[in-house]
Amino acid sequence: MTTLAAINYAPEEQLVTPRPYPQLIKYMGSKAKIINFVSESIQSIYNGGVVCDLFSGAASLSGALGASYPILTNDIQHYSSLIASVYLKPVKKIDSESLMQDATDYYKKARAKITTDIEYEGFDSLEAFNEIEERNRALIDQTFRHHYHLFVKNYSGTWWSAEQCLWIDAIKQAIDKRVKNGEFKQAEYALAMSTLLHAMAYSSQGTGHYAQYRDAKTESSMLDINIYRQKRLQDLFINKFDQMIIWSKENVTDLNHSITTLDYTDCLKKLKGGTVYADPPYAFVHYSRFYHAMETLCLYDYPELQVKGGSIVKGRYREERHQSPFCIRTQVNGAFEDLFSGVKKAGANLALSYSDTAMISLETLLDISKKTLSSGYEIWVEDMDHQHMTMGRQNDRSRDVKELMLLARKK
Ligand SMILES: C[S@@+](CC[C@H](N)C(=O)[O-])C[C@H]1O[C@@H](n2cnc3c(N)ncnc32)[C@H](O)[C@@H]1O
Repeated sequence: MTTLAAINYAPEEQLVTPRPYPQLIKYMGSKAKIINFVSESIQSIYNGGVVCDLFSGAASLSGALGASYPILTNDIQHYSSLIASVYLKPVKKIDSESLMQDATDYYKKARAKITTDIEYEGFDSLEAFNEIEERNRALIDQTFRHHYHLFVKNYSGTWWSAEQCLWIDAIKQAIDKRVKNGEFKQAEYALAMSTLLHAMAYSSQGTGHYAQYRDAKTESSMLDINIYRQKRLQDLFINKFDQMIIWSKENVTDLNHSITTLDYTDCLKKLKGGTVYADPPYAFVHYSRFYHAMETLCLYDYPELQVKGGSIVKGRYREERHQSPFCIRTQVNGAFEDLFSGVKKAGANLALSYSDTAMISLETLLDISKKTLSSGYEIWVEDMDHQHMTMGRQNDRSRDVKELMLLARKK
């Protein structure tokens, strides 16, 4: 491994300690667990301007540094912009009680329209449980006449029960009402939606993402799935919402932060100076597949669902999904070239996270960085060891993986 000597520019005593922040969702590749390493690396090369979090995901960086530096946060997925807003944009007064009252009314009306038995009650065998699952899933064939039925139709009996989906639709409807009547501006909308993403994550029967939901194949998996089927999504929502409103009031200040949902190359075109933190995907899996249900909640656009062999695929993915060049072997080198040249054109410094499980070697990455950034930059790598969270890959949860940071500072 090529490791050049580390050069720190900011004296250690000037480094800001990351702000403790509440995490809202479970996210593959989240840097929450190594946020001290990430924050220190960025600060060690920072010399003014914005900190641009180019691939912000669950917005850990905005959580940690949003009270200390002006942040430009960006990700191609819309849900990321809403979560980042929670950490960056202060909210005005929010009446959570009346929001829940409206949601309850909407829930009751929508619930009354379902005539099949969707309750997870009174089953005494695996077979009986799976019949309930099937009745939930069959709602995809029902015609609904009211507007807010996207989740109950498309996702009942998947990661969530029909009951939980009815609540997702009802809370979304109550949030949208407040946007329409002017009670919620962007910050309040983003806080409420992010909290709904949180409630979805913690009631889902999946393994932390939405690539595949679990089937009840054995008694023990049935019992485990049923724990999630019984979770009251509405309670998860309201409890977290009230906590988040308080946290926001006590911790969030707008240091002229901005939030975009652009392709990284377009985001870099808007940047002038500052320090870019880049944490691109490092595996073949597309985030848009793992988190499609969150994107669908945010867009609420009744997407076409992917069809294979004449049937809708099990994961009920959106037909239109972003394919990242960082996850395609033939495009990954070019994607990094575009990243380095965009940083250079912006006149910015760069801190690039790298995990040694990646499909591009560190040597190749260093070669591309040196070729593209050329002599105008000092480039080096810093490393640390930590437990890697792969989420879903078997027997792989606590494998030792090296997390590295490639640093490039303008001379
Ligand atoms: C490793 S994750 C970032 C995790 C983040 N640092 C955190 O702590 O939560 C990579 C992110 O890159 C985003 N992404 C992938 N391709 C992109 C592109 N072309 N432009 C912008 N964002 C992209 C994905 O949506 C994903 O959220």
